[in-house]
Amino acid sequence: MRETAAPRIAARMAAIEPFRVMDILARARVLEAQGRSIVHMEVGEPDFPTPRPICDAGIAALAKGELHYTPAPGLTELREAIAANYRRLHGIDIPASRIVVTTGSSGALLLALGALVDPGDRVLLSDPGYPCNRNFVRLVNGEPIGIAVGPDSHYQLTPESLARHWDSRTAAAIVATPSNPTGTVVPPAQLRAMVELARERGGTLIVDEIYHGLVYEGEAKSALALAEDVFVVNSFSKYFNMTGWRLGWLVVPERCLREIDKLAQNIFISPPAPAQFAALAAFRPETLAIAETHRMEFRERRDFLVPALRALGFDVPHTPEGAFYIYAGCARLTQDSFAFTRDLLEESGVAIAPGIDFGTHRPREHVRFSYTQSIDVLAEGVRRIGEFLRKRQS
Ligand SMILES: Cc1ncc(COP(=O)(O)O)c(C=O)c1O
Repeated sequence: MRETAAPRIAARMAAIEPFRVMDILARARVLEAQGRSIVHMEVGEPDFPTPRPICDAGIAALAKGELHYTPAPGLTELREAIAANYRRLHGIDIPASRIVVTTGSSGALLLALGALVDPGDRVLLSDPGYPCNRNFVRLVNGEPIGIAVGPDSHYQLTPESLARHWDSRTAAAIVATPSNPTGTVVPPAQLRAMVELARERGGTLIVDEIYHGLVYEGEAKSALALAEDVFVVNSFSKYFNMTGWRLGWLVVPERCLREIDKLAQNIFISPPAPAQFAALAAFRPETLAIAETHRMEFRERRDFLVPALRALGFDVPHTPEGAFYIYAGCARLTQDSFAFTRDLLEESGVAIAPGIDFGTHRPREHVRFSYTQSIDVLAEGVRRIGEFLRKRQS
C-alpha cells in the first residue's frame, strides 16, 4: 500500500483539549461490557426520558414528513413559544424575532462567539467552568482567560473580578448561572452589575441559562429581565431531557440580529427540523408538569448526596442551588483527583469527573459528581466510595 502524508492539522488544534469525562465514560462502558456494574455520576445528562408529549410531537412530525430545512433562526411558532415562556416565567416581553433557535446551546455559544470575537480577543471565563467554552473561544482564534473562582465568590465571576481582568483586548465574558460544575447561581444584582461593567468596557456579557429550570433555592432571574444588550444562551437539553435532540436557543440584542442570522445560515443552515416540531410541545402545561416533577426529584437527590459526600470527607462548602452537579473538594482524601477518579472507577466501579476537566485552578483538589441517577443508585455509589476510602486508609 502506498504511504500517504498525514493531513496538516491546523495549529489551533494543539490548544483544543479533550473532554476527559468522555474518556471516563468510554472506560466505564468498556468495564460494563466486561460485566462490571458501574454507578454513573460522571456525565451531565439527565436520566429521565424526554417527556411523552414532546416525543409524540416528534413522532407526528416524522410521520408528516416535516424533515426539511426550516428558516435559519428556527420555526416562527417555536420562537414565539419561547418568547411566551419568558412572559410566563419572568413577565418580560422578548420579541420572537430576537430568539434564534440553535443546534443545542453549543450552537448558540458558537454563534455568539463567532459574532463577537476577533482573532486575538480575550474572553473571560470562570475557572472552574464549563470546559467546552474555552475551546469554543480557541476555535474562533480568541484567547480564553480563566479567572479563578472559589467558595468566597460562590464559585462565580463577580463585577470586581471582571473589572480586574477586563483589558483593551477583552471582547466578552461568559457566565453560567446555575453553573456547571458547581451548581451555584449568580444573584440578580451581581448579574446586573456584570452586564453594566461589560457595557462600560465596550464588550458583551454572554449568560448561559441552560440550567435555569433546575433551581432549588430562591429564584433564578433571567439576565434578559435586567438588560437588552446581553446574549442569553439556553437549551432544551437539560430541563426537558432532550440532550440527543440537539436543540437550544440564543437571545440576541436587536442590533446584532443580522450578524447572528448570517452566521446561522452559513454554519447550520437550520436547526434540526424534527427536534423543533417536537419542542413545540415543550411549553404545554402537561409537559411543564412532567418537567416540574423532575426538578423536585433532582432536589431530593441533591439533598441526599450533599450530606452523604460531606460525611465521606469531601468538602462541599455551599449547597449548590441548581443544576445537577456537586463540585466537591477532595484534598482530605487525595492529592491527585485525576488518579482518584481513575482508581475509583477501576477498583469500585464508580464513575465521577476529575477537576482537571473544568480548569486549571486547583483541579487536583476537586471532583464533580452528577446526580443524574435515582437515589438508590446514588446510595450504592456512596456505599462503594466509602468502602474504597476505607480500603485505602487501612
Ligand atoms: C453550562 C453548559 N452550557 C452548555 C452546554 C451544552 O449543552 P447543549 O449543547 O446540549 O445544549 C452544557 C452541557 O453540559 C453545559 O453544562
